[in-house]
Amino acid sequence: MEIKEIVKEKYGQAALRVTTGGSSCCGASATVDGCGVDPITSHLYDANQTGQIPEEAVLASLGCGNPTALAQLNPGEVVLDLGSGGGIDVLLSAKRVGPTGKAYGLDMTDEMLALARENQRKSGLQNVEFLKGEIENIPLPDNSVDVIISNCVINLSGDKDRVLQEAFRVLKPGGRFAVSDVVVRGTVPDEVRRSMLLWVGCIAGALQDEQYVSKLAKSGFDQIEIEPTRVYNIEDARTFLSAEGIDVDSIAAQVDGKFMSAFVRAIKPAAAC
Ligand SMILES: C[S@@+](CC[C@H](N)C(=O)[O-])C[C@H]1O[C@@H](n2cnc3c(N)ncnc32)[C@H](O)[C@@H]1O
Repeated sequence: MEIKEIVKEKYGQAALRVTTGGSSCCGASATVDGCGVDPITSHLYDANQTGQIPEEAVLASLGCGNPTALAQLNPGEVVLDLGSGGGIDVLLSAKRVGPTGKAYGLDMTDEMLALARENQRKSGLQNVEFLKGEIENIPLPDNSVDVIISNCVINLSGDKDRVLQEAFRVLKPGGRFAVSDVVVRGTVPDEVRRSMLLWVGCIAGALQDEQYVSKLAKSGFDQIEIEPTRVYNIEDARTFLSAEGIDVDSIAAQVDGKFMSAFVRAIKPAAAC
């Protein structure tokens, strides 16, 4: 419960910053350089995508990837975005699946839901619905979704097994899991891991790549792949970590190349139900 309350407060404030005319930035760079160029959340979408949706949805973007660019989405399909925030990926998905399809966003933070619904209103899109709830208890029926997307949210959950089991439950047989998330590559000493995840803003902690694969497999998924989209090095985090009083040079060698944003794909087998 404690993790969820911290997450809600942090993202509630981020949503309010957008609503009051600022940027949603609430990660490392917000505390250090007033939200300059965050190496994790910035430049994820191209002008063609951002031009299609309201500015506030772009300003509220807090992801670490661009799942809609990497996921296959077909007209008529049902898409669900776990932890939809200000709605950027839901609105982009809704355009891709078209009027015969539907895009759901799921989020537990009231201020984010209010912002996302306002962004939907401005976009004029009808095939969109934002649901209030937790990704550990998805408020949709079994076998009802074609594609699950998510952008930098699963790392925030204190019960990732439950999230993956719920994703599997709501996907239709043959359905696709297509998620951007922060992933740790290989083993990293605990202290280094804690410092870097503080920088990333992972409250519950990012999974190691092998753990991600094994948890997905345990939930029933197959064709599991993890594709790096951005790999971070110590210079990305230096200013933040120094401000936190961490001796950056002493951990540098153990950080480079170990923390990444990745696109995680998997399939619910067609025979599963
Ligand atoms: C890092 S932001 C990402 C938002 C959005 N995906 C994006 O790319 O801009 C995390 C979002 O996930 C939501 N969230 C975090 N944990 C959640 C949970 N357990 N259940 C539902 N929503 C959650 C937060 O409220 C917040 O809006």
